Amino acid sequence: MSQDTPSSTATVPAAATAGEGARQGDAFENLLHETRTFPPTPEFAANAVVTAEVYAEADADRPAFWAKQARELLTWSKDFDQALDWSNPPFAKWFVGGEVNAAYNALDRHVENGLGDRVAIYFEGEPGDTRAYTYAELTEEVKKAANAFESLGVAKGDRVAVYLPMIPEAVITLLACARIGAVHSVVFGGFSADALRSRIDDAEAKLVVTADGTYRRGKPSALKPAVDEALSREGDAGGHTVQNVVVVKRNGQDVDWTEGRDHWWDETVGAASAEHTAVGHDSEHPLFILYTSGTTGKPKGILHTTGGYLTQTAYTHKAVFDLHPETDVYWCTADVGWVTGHSYVTYAPFINGATQVMYEGTPDSPHQGRWWEIVEKYKVSILYTAPTAIRTFMKWGRDIPDKYDLTSLRVLGSVGEPINPEAWMWYKTVIGGGDAPIVDTWWQTETGAQMIAPLPGVTAAKPGSAQVPLPGIAVDVVDEMGESVPDGHGGFLVIREPWPAMLRGIWGDPERFKDTYWSRFENMYFAGDGAKKDEDGDIWLLGRVDDVMNVSGHRLSTTEIESALVSHPAVAEAAVVGATDETTGQAVVAFVILRGDAANNGDETVQELRNHVGKEIGPIAKPKNILVVPELPKTRSGKIMRRLLKDVAEGRDPGDATTLSDPTIMQQIAQSLRK
Ligand code: WT7
Repeated sequence: MSQDTPSSTATVPAAATAGEGARQGDAFENLLHETRTFPPTPEFAANAVVTAEVYAEADADRPAFWAKQARELLTWSKDFDQALDWSNPPFAKWFVGGEVNAAYNALDRHVENGLGDRVAIYFEGEPGDTRAYTYAELTEEVKKAANAFESLGVAKGDRVAVYLPMIPEAVITLLACARIGAVHSVVFGGFSADALRSRIDDAEAKLVVTADGTYRRGKPSALKPAVDEALSREGDAGGHTVQNVVVVKRNGQDVDWTEGRDHWWDETVGAASAEHTAVGHDSEHPLFILYTSGTTGKPKGILHTTGGYLTQTAYTHKAVFDLHPETDVYWCTADVGWVTGHSYVTYAPFINGATQVMYEGTPDSPHQGRWWEIVEKYKVSILYTAPTAIRTFMKWGRDIPDKYDLTSLRVLGSVGEPINPEAWMWYKTVIGGGDAPIVDTWWQTETGAQMIAPLPGVTAAKPGSAQVPLPGIAVDVVDEMGESVPDGHGGFLVIREPWPAMLRGIWGDPERFKDTYWSRFENMYFAGDGAKKDEDGDIWLLGRVDDVMNVSGHRLSTTEIESALVSHPAVAEAAVVGATDETTGQAVVAFVILRGDAANNGDETVQELRNHVGKEIGPIAKPKNILVVPELPKTRSGKIMRRLLKDVAEGRDPGDATTLSDPTIMQQIAQSLRK
């Protein structure tokens, strides 16, 4: 890999953390001019679902374009009167006056239209067990779950916390909530009891849906104990709001049981009636909350509503993946704990009547060919995954995928972090067999749906670039002053016009919503990403420009991990950086100053601290490295200079340290690490 490949992960970390803008210029200058382009094959273009005219059509009248999609893709219980109400920015209302039921649109209407026998989900469990649900069967399960949740006192507007592995019950739960108008709040199964509890408290959830556990690399892995622990402790406000816990039996492990509160899924949902009539909910009715890391310690509850979210997720799923629902088999490898598992597993594929694969486990269980075995077995035609996975497969070697028949694959998607051109080319040639287009999709939990991506039947693709805003989406790159930069220049990624799937706010905190996204530039949404427009005007994403890290496509807050570290009695001070990592994009590296006795017990303490972060936030946040140092580099005003620590973490000679309160600190750190 050349040093300065465009948007390669090597350039991303240099894109500077907040307040360190000087360095960012260098990163932009480092970009090469990518010359390779891959236009769609004539056959692909001829059969494409979406053609080039859509851009002009959308540009002519964005709200009208989206209104047309809303009416084409969804069945409204009551038609809307107005496409967009932007009279009170940044609070948008889309498809005003309309009523729509997400679950009816995802399920019942397909059955009514004679598609009841089409497979909705091919489920592949980690131990090798399989299940398939037709649309008719899935509809019935969702109706039963809806009745069961209602019988447990869950009503429209109530919040339901979901802490489940990647099993069909996860999407059944989410769609059942949507059906009755309850607001789901999924907490990723890799998060800790503490993280679960704080999210339950913030959303004031009435019901928790969980499982005894799941499987990880052939072994049972528990979930229910974290729920028990979360609900047994004192929260910030004392007690909690949870009245019932529904438990899916998945791995058969013994679980503790709280009589009256806990209910087995099989008994409760199993006994419920399969008759349930879906009613339309207001287009702006809350659909879900999903917590994501921000630049401060407290995760933000990103709020999405119904009509606009469903419209944009369904449209992009169809257009960007060139979905032909009658023939395609779609597989998105994301967990339901992340936004991709909401938009492109739970909602869009079913709204579009697609057949999808769902896999519970890890890519190397029981062997490193498991994914490709699944692709071969189900004849997967559209695969949507993350660059970190692709880089892992590259490391394992092409002889593994080469053993399988992957000729069914015709569209390959990427999401979560910049995909470096080498990984892009490998994905295209080794996995896609050369012809399959790659669609690199940029978006965020906050945007709800894809925002920047090539259209596979239209765009001549460029390795490493997400390229163009989708039809009806107004993305730009601006400088410090908010002025649009010319082609060939870099700056900050912004969104200039409201879009249907945009977040409607941060749960319970409208001010934070305005401060975080709408205060940096006037009348523009600030995404927190650095970006560059190349000579053709194509957009290259350069990674976060704030204190947010991206580890394996998962968002982590430096501040949140620092808070977790200093909450341990052995730690006096901590600073966390995201260091470039060949496989995971970035890796968490922590620098800590230990207190008194702990300092003499370095190795043991470091292990304890890793576990402590795992317990406070979750295993995914555990630092890869914890370096014990005597001091932290700070400016004279006391701000930790993470940029210098990042240099150390990445094995570079830290640059200019003259602005430090004590310029010798970097030497002291280097010395202590050599010991
Ligand atoms: C952040 C959002 C979108 C679902 C998964 C992550 C980074 C996402 C790309 C891409 C470059 C990307 C950005 C963004 N990101 N997709 N195709 N190219 N960077 O959702 O956890 O909300 O994270 O992920 O930095 O801001 P998320």
